[in-house]
Amino acid sequence: MKRIFSGIKPTGHLTLGNYLGAVRRWVEEEQYRTDALFSVVDLHALTVHHDPARVRRLTLQAATLLLAAGLDPARCTVFVQSHVDEHTRLSYLLECTAADGELRRMIQYREKASRAEAAGQGVRLSLLTYPVLMAADILAYGADEVPVGEDQTQHVELARDLAVRFNGRYGHTFTVPRATQPRVGARVMDLRDPASKMGKSHESTAGIVYLLDDADTVRRKVGRAVTDSGSGVVYDRAERPGPANLLDLLAACGGGDPRDLAGGYASYGALKKDAAEAVVELLAPVRERHAELAADPAYVGGVLREGAERARAMARPRVDTAYRAIGLLPPA
Ligand code: TYM
Repeated sequence: MKRIFSGIKPTGHLTLGNYLGAVRRWVEEEQYRTDALFSVVDLHALTVHHDPARVRRLTLQAATLLLAAGLDPARCTVFVQSHVDEHTRLSYLLECTAADGELRRMIQYREKASRAEAAGQGVRLSLLTYPVLMAADILAYGADEVPVGEDQTQHVELARDLAVRFNGRYGHTFTVPRATQPRVGARVMDLRDPASKMGKSHESTAGIVYLLDDADTVRRKVGRAVTDSGSGVVYDRAERPGPANLLDLLAACGGGDPRDLAGGYASYGALKKDAAEAVVELLAPVRERHAELAADPAYVGGVLREGAERARAMARPRVDTAYRAIGLLPPA
């Protein structure tokens, strides 16, 4: 059976982008057809300026939301990254495999480093090595596939390169993974700034739909989405990104092809209304289930404890093999 691994970082409240680009597919497809692990990757949240209490809270909230969205702990493994030491153990070996230059070239590093510098926060060394830890997340489990949104493909490419390089130098140890993306929703854009990705940590929240937003908030945010003064509703991502994003959202939530959907609208008003209702309908059951599960933290805690045990048992033998292969003396 195919093994897959994917993760989500608790740097902010989960967004519609996270859901459409990743989580929905984990819930609807991956957990049924693969041996799947999904992790709230909390160590990654420490790579930028953070508030300890908030990270702890968001980690539990993200795990609760994954279960609320429909991940079934009887079918897949759900756990918190920092509960399984193998990630950081392997990350160091991969730091000894990666080159400084290839990490400095990463698009997300360049963007986040300049944002941190502009905010006067300093750039943490872990921001540079972030993709190495991400590679360790994936390689520790021998994952074949990594279901992610478009923004993560460069990082998964690095994980592939590191697997191939390590195997070439020290003998076959790691499966070479590949990224997979959803047919629609791989890149959901900010509603107020359709040139940028809808991201958890964007400064302004006006263009971001959060999974826990109530129906009226969703309607307000979608209703205020940026469009343009062009005539007619057409799907053109490059020239008319605002309307294209709304059509993508409608297609991702309700089905259909965004180009075909465009033909059904004479005005942006009607398009926004339908897109908002489609999002409200999609998120309502997740929000309801989240409220139930949030009232039962002992259940969520139990799922995470068992998940971490399973994950550890899966990762340890491969990481131990890597320790021996790279030249470290096993303890007597
Ligand atoms: P993160 O937490 O930023 O996002 C989690 C998942 O959501 C997808 N995503 C989007 N998809 C479409 N449109 C958007 N606007 C959007 N925003 C986010 C992301 O592509 C991702 O699939 N580095 C990763 C976390 C990670 C990871 C891993 C993922 C750490 N280790 C190992 C896979 C495998 C991240 O920051 O995701």
